[in-house]
Amino acid sequence: MTRIIDIRDTDIVSWSAQVIARYLTEAIRQNGRARLVLAGGSTPRLVYSQLASERFTPTIDWENVKVFWGDERCVPPDHSDSNFRMAHEAFLDRVPIPRTNIFRIRAEISPDQAALEYEDVIRREFSMNEGLPRFDLVLLGLGDDGHTASLFPGTSSLTEKRLLVTSVFVHKLNSHRITMTYPVINKATRVLFIVSGETKSTIVQNVLEGPAGRYPSQYVKPDGNGLHWILDRGAAALLKHTKQ
Ligand code: 6PG
Repeated sequence: MTRIIDIRDTDIVSWSAQVIARYLTEAIRQNGRARLVLAGGSTPRLVYSQLASERFTPTIDWENVKVFWGDERCVPPDHSDSNFRMAHEAFLDRVPIPRTNIFRIRAEISPDQAALEYEDVIRREFSMNEGLPRFDLVLLGLGDDGHTASLFPGTSSLTEKRLLVTSVFVHKLNSHRITMTYPVINKATRVLFIVSGETKSTIVQNVLEGPAGRYPSQYVKPDGNGLHWILDRGAAALLKHTKQ
């Protein structure tokens, strides 16, 4: 597995949107559609808004983009913490994507039920009752503790090797989450981490240049050259010998 590390002086938001648009277009050209998995949190919000801008929306064949979530907080879809709500406000209700192409995690129901239901949603979309569906592009962020999606340190989600989606109780947050698991994330054609800001510089250095196997995000290993990191100067500030 090779890693692409993009350290950008320029606007990481528009660069990230450009990379996403390119990967979506490639997937549609090759397969007739692009199955995209969104990240939650605050970093991607501005990137999503860029995708809905005049500069990018005309370049993306939204009819053939299908959108999923890599994780969700166990709250209703109109809750301020909802990753669905964030993406919906940032771009999904501003681009011409068919509503039937948006696959929300119903995280307002019981966590275990929500995970089972989303697993079924994915399998039905891929017409795959077993095996590992291959998403075209998975977007991920990086938490200060090295988590990604809702794969948090010390939680049961890290050891799930069979299911595509699982529910997890995150003690430090005192809340349940629904998350895609390593098997399906690592099956993706491309995985794009987008990390911004000086506050992430320590965890970025530890994850990219520290000992392997210490943080959940280090276990994201898609095949081939599928792993792509986009960092701004702040997030990359402590990197010593990572090729740029
Ligand atoms: C979530 C995300 C989570 C996020 C990181 C980084 O639901 O919170 O999936 O993994 O990407 O915590 O979050 P920020 O972008 O807000 O720093």
